[in-house]
Parts: sequence; structure tokens; C-alpha cells
Amino acid sequence: MLCLEAGFPGDRLSRRQLRRHLVSARADLGVLGRRGHPLQGYVLVLSHRQRRDVRLYSIVVDPALRGQGAGRALLDWALRRSRQRGAAGLRLEVRVDNPAARALYAARGFREIGGRTGYYEDGADAVCLRRPFV
Ligand SMILES: CC(C)(COP(=O)(O)OP(=O)(O)OC[C@H]1O[C@@H](n2cnc3c(N)ncnc32)[C@H](O)[C@@H]1OP(=O)(O)O)[C@@H](O)C(=O)NCCC(=O)NCCS
Repeated sequence: MLCLEAGFPGDRLSRRQLRRHLVSARADLGVLGRRGHPLQGYVLVLSHRQRRDVRLYSIVVDPALRGQGAGRALLDWALRRSRQRGAAGLRLEVRVDNPAARALYAARGFREIGGRTGYYEDGADAVCLRRPFV
């Protein structure tokens, strides 16, 4: 997971953060890969005691494997899992300048519900998206 995170220019999840999520009952982690090989991708969904929506915290695919359906498979897993767990919807933030991720989310029925100015470390803005289940 750290190797995949290292591919991000900024806003990476640290070893400490990843460790905390791995043992948290509020974190759902979907991984793609083969036993004994480096991870090909992962998706992390977090829930919150007082909220009916869950949050897609991170999704990443090995750069060498992009464009072959892995991101879609991980997102579909996260959607199924969140729905099974009784969430009302799945929310996330995405950089305005991330067309690949934005196209992926749009194709899966996510709708824009707001934005956050200067949300990322480098000052880039975020678009807030939500996919309702009900
Ligand atoms: C976003 C990401 C997870 C997509 O993973 P992927 O395995 O390359 O995506 P897929 O091959 O499953 O493609 C699914 C859909 O995403 C969109 N997409 C993927 N790559 C794209 C690109 N380069 N340009 C435009 N749309 C793209 C398309 O809608 C595509 O559907 P299509 O093949 O029917 O056109 C991957 O690019 C990634 O890891 N990016 C870095 C991390 C990141 O930005 N995460 C999102 C943070 S919010």
C-alpha cells in the first residue's frame, strides 16, 4: 500500500495512517493482487458512527495496470460492500484536475454535491461527489 501511495505527488497516506486503518473496525479495505506479489491496487472506505453515508478515502491502481478495468473493479467492490453494510450513500473528494478518476466516478452514478477550495496540499481544489443507494 505504501508503494502505491508513493506514486501520488502529495497528500499521501503515511505508514502510521495506513496501520491505523488496517486495524480499525470502521475501515473497509478491498485489495487487488496475487498472493506473494506486490499489491496491484486498493480501495479504502471509512464509516463514521454518526453518519449514514460512508466515505471513499482512497483508491489507487498500480500505474502499470491502469486503463484495464482494475479501478472500476475496486470501485464496484466498494459500492457493493457499502450498500451491504447499510450505508445510505458513498461520498468522496476528488481533485478537479483528475479527469481519470472523475470519469470513473461519473460512470458509476456519482453526482457533484459541492466543492472545497484549496483542499489539497498543493492548493488544488476538490470536487465533492456522492453516489446514493436509496
Ligand atoms: C483513478 C484510477 C483508480 C482508475 O483506475 P484504472 O484501473 O486506470 O481505471 P479503469 O481501467 O477501471 O477505468 C474505468 C473508467 O475510468 C475512466 N478512466 C480511467 N482512466 C482514464 C483516463 N486516463 N482518462 C479518462 N478516463 C479514464 C473511464 O471512464 C474508464 O471507463 P472506460 O474504460 O469505459 O472508458 C487510477 O487512474 C489511479 O490509481 N489513479 C491515481 C490515484 C487516484 O487518482 N485516485 C483517485 C483519488 S480520488
